[in-house]
Amino acid sequence: MSDTANLTPTAKQRQILVTSALPYANGPLHLGHLMEAIQTDIWVRFQKLRGENCIYVCADDAHGTAIMLKAEQLGITPEQQIAAVQADHEADFAGFLIGFDHYHSTHSEENRHYAELIYRRLQANGHIASREIIQAYDPEKEMFLADRFIKGTCPKCHTEDQYGDNCEACGATYSSTDLINPRSVISGATPINKASTHYFFKLPEFADMLKTWVYSGAIQTNVANKLGEWLDAGLQEWDISRDAPYFGFEIPGAPGKYFYVWLDAPIGYMASFKSYCDQHSIDFDHYWATSATTELYHFIGKDIINFHALFWPAMLESAGFRKPTKVCAHGFVTVDGQKMSKSRGTFINAKIYLAHLNPEYLRYYFAAKLTGGVDDLDLNLEDFVQRVNADLIGKVINIASRCASFITKKFAGTLATECTELSLYNHFVDTADIIAQHYENREFSKAIREIMALADKANQFIDEKKPWVTIKDDNKQQETLADCSMGINLFRLLITYLSPVLPATAENAATFLNTELTWSGIAAPLCNHKINKFKPLMTRLELTKVNDMIEANRVELAKATQSTKTQPSQSSTVPETANPACDIQPIAPTIEFEDFAKLDLRIAKIIKAQPIPGADKLLQLTLDIGKETRNVFAGIKSAYQPEQLEGRLTVMIVNLKPRKMRFGVSEGMVLAAGPGGDAIWLLAPDSGAQPGMVVK
Ligand code: MSP
Ligand code: ZN
Repeated sequence: MSDTANLTPTAKQRQILVTSALPYANGPLHLGHLMEAIQTDIWVRFQKLRGENCIYVCADDAHGTAIMLKAEQLGITPEQQIAAVQADHEADFAGFLIGFDHYHSTHSEENRHYAELIYRRLQANGHIASREIIQAYDPEKEMFLADRFIKGTCPKCHTEDQYGDNCEACGATYSSTDLINPRSVISGATPINKASTHYFFKLPEFADMLKTWVYSGAIQTNVANKLGEWLDAGLQEWDISRDAPYFGFEIPGAPGKYFYVWLDAPIGYMASFKSYCDQHSIDFDHYWATSATTELYHFIGKDIINFHALFWPAMLESAGFRKPTKVCAHGFVTVDGQKMSKSRGTFINAKIYLAHLNPEYLRYYFAAKLTGGVDDLDLNLEDFVQRVNADLIGKVINIASRCASFITKKFAGTLATECTELSLYNHFVDTADIIAQHYENREFSKAIREIMALADKANQFIDEKKPWVTIKDDNKQQETLADCSMGINLFRLLITYLSPVLPATAENAATFLNTELTWSGIAAPLCNHKINKFKPLMTRLELTKVNDMIEANRVELAKATQSTKTQPSQSSTVPETANPACDIQPIAPTIEFEDFAKLDLRIAKIIKAQPIPGADKLLQLTLDIGKETRNVFAGIKSAYQPEQLEGRLTVMIVNLKPRKMRFGVSEGMVLAAGPGGDAIWLLAPDSGAQPGMVVK
């Protein structure tokens, strides 16, 4: 939660509602998500710093096939899955100091309400069509299959194991019915064609409105030009329904039909805001009515522009709500010049970053490179280290540390009674407008460049004045005080300008300066003002730490690839998969012996093995490990009959943290290996082993 949400707007304040795209609830956050959240958060914090009324909401995007299948794979309900993922996302966002005013879920009553309301209005306005379409269907799993759930051999180049819409080997695009030997990724069955009624949003009817809107300044010019090309080429009706089984909201008046996840996802912005309004007595319509004078900003990645700049404004138009003031699209994060990659360890997981590095390093680096455009942003790891150390530690923090101790030790912690270098001070103040303009336009790299140029000037000033020399001269004490006070005052301006980027450091700096940091407070310097003892505000970033983080990430990714057998992902960043054709997984990175030695392995006797109603893959095992018995859920049902197992000895990890599953708590893990299906082999120690024996 933000500490600076302004709940009582004054007449002059801008009233701005801001969103970032809603991350899917089927996996953890990575640096791509974080770049977006950091960009949005900096913008929001800037607005709040300037005294505007700015509300930042987000949510998890909880619906769709991928989430349903993921939950099934984990043996939990979709509700359990999305709750766990949301808690995880919120923790990671908080770790990166993202100050949402509210974080919600698309699987919420508010969202159901607005999805149904909007759909009913579209329908009443004649903007919904329905007709039968033919689609691929998995006869075993009894569900329709989107292209990414079908794989087969490319009809052009004959490479095996290609997704249903395009070939990664030759780049051909085709329809899934053209694949040779198509199969369902979910069950392995051969898909059949099946007819079903679908509901469509009549997007073409909004072509004229959209042509005007995209060029109205609501989106970056080059993006508008691209959209303009599509608009000229002609729009298609948009399929907004999916057949059961589907995790989402059932369409009113259409049993067995569900809203496609992308219909209710942007409505999730409204839902999250509505939930916030209810908690803070804010008038929802003041922000969403067609007549609203408030501003609405959506921050999104370039991969989801269509949904936000075509479908969404058209839906809002038909349903009688206001359209966004701006859709702010950004590019993708790359690492060392390449797409984030699982095998190289550069698909950096938010939590792993946080376990190794200060979030403000990354906030600063992203800020230093972000523009208002859709270019990709490269995280160059060496440059990252260099930039953070040179700019933040070497330039900004350095100013305070060079001046503070003299003031504390020699002048009782009190700044000079007047500022004698007003022209330099005023130059810093005058730059505020340019910096503000850059922040406003999301040209953060330009804002940072201005701020660092000022930091250079502040350092030059101190270099010239040499307080470490003058302090030794009894005749120059007042001069030393004046120069160090000036240094502290310049530092105050710099850290105020940087505070949207570095909220935690700014807070600590405010404590040190013994004052609040506000945009309006910069005009006058602090004079005759008591400051607190300086404590180091940030430590240097070491390349070894960055490398450790990448390595830890690589290990984690290798583990994840092995435990989840390449489920297709709904994420826009299609995960790289390790040769799923023959299920040969690459060897995971080497681990240290000490890590291996942490495993407490014991001989266990299976005293009971039973199937679990509703679980396809799991058996419930009761294991005797000498002094106690353990309950374990093991994914070996496809390979063993329960009766076969009773009385057998195996090896178990007994010090694995108990894990809550849908059917109960699993208190360890039995050791089994194999590619899956009936080819899973449970480790079987020689007879003579006794339950509870330590395995060395
Ligand atoms: N659930 C949809 C968004 C619905 S908004 C009504 C979705 N989710 S996502 O988890 O795949 O992506 C969330 C946001 O992260 C998107 O804006 C996406 O562009 C962004 N990013 C995902 N990978 C990214 C990078 N590698 N780099 C920068 N941003 C990227 O799409
Ligand atoms: Zn091909």
